[in-house]
Amino acid sequence: MRLKPEAKDAKCILTTSTIPGEGKSFVTTNVAMTYAAHGEKVVIVDCDLRKPNIHKTVQLENIKGVIDIVGGSGTLDEVILKNVAPNLDVIPTGGRAKNPTHILNSKSFEQMVTDLRGRYDRVFFDTPPLASG
Ligand SMILES: Nc1ncnc2c1ncn2[C@@H]1O[C@H](COP(=O)(O)OP(=O)(O)OP(=O)(O)O)[C@@H](O)[C@H]1O
Ligand SMILES: [Mg+2]
Repeated sequence: MRLKPEAKDAKCILTTSTIPGEGKSFVTTNVAMTYAAHGEKVVIVDCDLRKPNIHKTVQLENIKGVIDIVGGSGTLDEVILKNVAPNLDVIPTGGRAKNPTHILNSKSFEQMVTDLRGRYDRVFFDTPPLASG
């Protein structure tokens, strides 16, 4: 595959699709693992706040995460699941949110992304389907 330089150097990578079950989470996890295996420092952020599942893939609990960072009840260092594989960290959702749009549009979410860009070579976002019905 030939990529434009700006695509090749992308730091934040977000997977999306229209309907559930099309393989977003699967693709996110596998592409992230590939980058990590090549020695880049990678984090996956689970942004599917209604139906979180990245933590299941790595067989860990979803206790604290994005919702805590945005809501101020946790810091990045408290919520990041470190080294789930070599070079690979995960930030779970931290439970389910009633108002995901509000969380993902907040200033503190933006600040979290800025912080993650500073810490990692690649930041992957797993997102919900656009048409969740
Ligand atoms: N390319 C693939 N090859 C084999 N299995 C796949 C592939 N893509 C997805 N799957 C399987 O299909 C199922 C659904 O995939 P996944 O959970 O990634 O979809 P999703 O788009 O994230 O769904 P949702 O919108 O509900 O979050 C999973 O069990 C996954 O393991
Ligand atoms: Mg998914």
